[in-house]
Amino acid sequence: MKTRPVMSSFPVSENVARMQSSATMAAMQAAQALRASGASVCDFGAGEPDFDTPENIKQAALRAMEAGRTKYTAAGGIREIQRAIIELYRRDFGTEYEPTEVMATAGGKQAVFNAAVTLLNPGDEALIPKPYWVTFPEVAVFAGAKPIFIETEETDFVLTVSQVERGITPRTKLLILNSPSNPSGRVLPPAEFHRIMELTAERGIYVISDECYLRFVYPPGEVFSAASLLAELRSRLCIAGSLSKTYAMTGWRVGYSLAPVEWTKAMLKVQGHSTSNANSIAQWAAVEALTGPQNSVATMLGEYTKRRAWLLNELKNIPGFKCAEPEGAFYAFPDVRGCLNKELKTSGEFSQRLLEEEQTVVTDGAGFGAEGFIRISYATSMEQIQEGVKRIKRFAEKYN
Ligand SMILES: Cc1ncc(COP(=O)(O)O)c(C=O)c1O
Repeated sequence: MKTRPVMSSFPVSENVARMQSSATMAAMQAAQALRASGASVCDFGAGEPDFDTPENIKQAALRAMEAGRTKYTAAGGIREIQRAIIELYRRDFGTEYEPTEVMATAGGKQAVFNAAVTLLNPGDEALIPKPYWVTFPEVAVFAGAKPIFIETEETDFVLTVSQVERGITPRTKLLILNSPSNPSGRVLPPAEFHRIMELTAERGIYVISDECYLRFVYPPGEVFSAASLLAELRSRLCIAGSLSKTYAMTGWRVGYSLAPVEWTKAMLKVQGHSTSNANSIAQWAAVEALTGPQNSVATMLGEYTKRRAWLLNELKNIPGFKCAEPEGAFYAFPDVRGCLNKELKTSGEFSQRLLEEEQTVVTDGAGFGAEGFIRISYATSMEQIQEGVKRIKRFAEKYN
């Protein structure tokens, strides 16, 4: 038998070849490598809560295992999780979603992925405001579509309806919104959200609203979901939600989508042939998270609130830094261009040298489409934040 010669390199598909690796994962790996070498690292890279998953949620998972709830579930999830999501949105946002419009997914990331690949065709354009969560352009590229970026620096990264309007072409099929935003922490004011949804409804453009940081809005801001908009503004809307951040459940992999029936049917096909269903035990844990006591969420929020206030105040005193106030999520996204010079030309070099010279990890804004900025996650202890800020300040003073 004649066999084909061994490939010199793997013939990766064109769409995947065009995808970028995750900048946030790279920052995490850099921190891990440095820690393994014994260095005392201050890590502002993590995009996940530093809190443990609340005990009541863990106990629910244990009970699920003991009860033998360890088998495949329906692709869209167990009835109980669908009901819990519907009920939560009814209570908090006054909506009446049907089970045929809800799916449990393996994290919010899978909800975004399902929604994008079921909609986009080669040649379509997907509007993505800058700075963006790293995954958004990659799912569009994976589907063969073209990401079209919307510049928002003129409004300190708060998207406006006129910025969206400028990006629309006859090929625009999708707009991806993310408020509160990763990486900027900025929140889209509800009235502007409303105007943007009116525009997309008028132009027949679909919208994915990534509400992964839904609960992380700091006073005087208020929690807002696109679900609370009038039904006629939601006929082309898919909400991608997540339990990862709200309940400190990043490793459990549970999220959900809320979308019109036909869109959901298409997403069920994709999920049914990829992951089948979200982890059954994690789904039962999620039911407890969504329907059980919510005091752990309030406790975590209280802690983030304190850290945020302290951090924002300190960032003002770092030479060369400028930081618009993030109203949500757990990130600050300062402009560090005031620190750049012949020695430090880019925010990438800034981040790399900060790592080497001060063993402090931040994420370069370039990966989010915002060269000149860095993302500082305050999902880490107050002591770490205080020590890390001291180091960043020392570093910035050295290069100013
Ligand atoms: C904006 C945004 N959406 C979705 C996710 C994915 O979360 P999950 O763990 O639910 O997949 C993240 C995680 O960092 C995120 O920042």
